[in-house]
Amino acid sequence: LAGPLLDRFGRVGQDLRISLIDKCNLRCTYCMPADGMAWLPKHMLLTIDEVARLVRIGVDDLGVRELRLTGGEPLVRRDLEDIIARVHAEHPDLPISITTNAIGLDKRAAALAAAGLTRINVSLDSIDADTFAEMTRRNRLQDVLDGIDAAHRAGLAPVKINAVLMKGLNDDQAPDLLEFCLERDLELRFIEQMPLDGDHGWTRDNMVTAAEMRTALETRFVLVPDEEPRGGAPAERWAVYAKPGNGAAVAGAPDASGGTGAAPADLGPRLGTVGIIASVTEPFCGACTRTRITAEGRVRSCLFSHEEFDLAAVMRAGEDDAAVSEVWRRAMWLKPRAHGMDHTGLDSADYVQPERSMSAIGG
Ligand code: GTP
Ligand code: 5AD
Ligand code: SF4
Repeated sequence: LAGPLLDRFGRVGQDLRISLIDKCNLRCTYCMPADGMAWLPKHMLLTIDEVARLVRIGVDDLGVRELRLTGGEPLVRRDLEDIIARVHAEHPDLPISITTNAIGLDKRAAALAAAGLTRINVSLDSIDADTFAEMTRRNRLQDVLDGIDAAHRAGLAPVKINAVLMKGLNDDQAPDLLEFCLERDLELRFIEQMPLDGDHGWTRDNMVTAAEMRTALETRFVLVPDEEPRGGAPAERWAVYAKPGNGAAVAGAPDASGGTGAAPADLGPRLGTVGIIASVTEPFCGACTRTRITAEGRVRSCLFSHEEFDLAAVMRAGEDDAAVSEVWRRAMWLKPRAHGMDHTGLDSADYVQPERSMSAIGG
C-alpha cells in the first residue's frame, strides 16, 4: 500500500523519528524519574535490520523525507554508527539527524559524520555545572561540552542546542546560555516543559512560558522574527541583535501586521538565531509532519497518543512490507488533532498525560 501517511485532519507524516533505545545515562528531571526505570529487554529493541527495513518502507512507500534517531539516548546504542552507515548507504539523499545529550560524542562524532550523519541536536539546559547536575541528576557538564566541540570539528552543522527552562533552576540563566551559544555558532532553542516527566510532577504554574522566555532574553538582546518560513518545525525562530546601550525597551517584537522580519536599520550586525519551542502555550499541532516509532518498534502518531501500533510484531510475524505499511498508515490516520494541553492546562477534559515518560516515547 503505497501513498503518504495521511491523517483525518489532512496532515502528512513525512518526518520519521525512530527511538533506538529507552535507556539514558542522564536522569533529567523533566524526562525521567530518579530511579526505578524498567528498561526494555534487549530483544525487544529494534535491530539494525529492522530499523533499515522500516526506513526503506517509510522512504520508498510512504513518502518519508527526513530521519531523526532519538532515545532515551541514541549514543547508548553501540551500533549507532552502523545503523547510520546502513541507512545512508541505502538512501544517500535522506537527511539523517540525532537528538542526543552528547555524552561520549567527543570520541564518536567523527565516525558518526563519516557514517553519513547530517546534523545533531544536543540537550544542554545550563552551562553552570551545579545547575546542570541538579537538572540532570548527573555531574557530566564537561562531557557534554567536549561532545559539542567534537561535533563542530567533525563538520556536523548546524549544531542545535535544546534547553528546557524550569522555574527556580535555570530560568534566570537564559541570556547567559544564549550568549554562550552565539559565541560558538550554536543554534539555541528554548523549550517549554511539557507534562511528559516520569514523576508526573508537571504543573502549569511551574512551567516557564514562551512569553516569559522572550521577556527574559529581551533584557539583553533584541529579537526580530526570522524571515525563513517555519513549516512544521516546532521552533519559532528569532534573529538576535545586541540590545543598544542603555536604550529603552526592545524594538522588534512582531509588529501588528504579523512582522516581516525586516530588522530596523540601526540594530547593528545580527548575532545569530534563537528558537522558542512553545509546545504548551503556542502549540503547532496543526502543522505537524512527524511520525514516530518507539524503541520497541511501535508507531506513535503523536507524543501524546494513547495508542500505539506494533510494527515490530508485524515484521517478526514474517509479514511483508505491504502489511507493515498498512498498520503504519492506520496508526497515522488516527493521529489526534492536538494534544489539548493549551486550553485549561491539566484541568482540561481533553488532556490526559500519557503513561510513558518522554524517554520511553523518544523525544
Ligand atoms: P529540528 O528539525 O532540528 O528543528 O528538530 P526538532 O526540534 O523537531 O527535534 P528535537 O528532537 O531537537 O526536539 C526539540 C523539542 O521539540 C523537544 O522538546 C521535543 O519534544 C519537541 N518536539 C519535537 N517534536 C514534537 C512534537 O511532535 N510535538 C511537540 N509538542 N513537541 C515536539
Ligand atoms: N518537555 C519538553 N521537552 C522535553 N525534552 C525531554 N523531556 C521534555 C519535556 N518534558 C526534550 C529534551 C531533549 C528533547 C528530545 O526533548 O530536552 O532535547
Ligand atoms: Fe536522557 Fe534526554 Fe531524557 Fe535527559 S531528556 S534523561 S538526556 S533522554
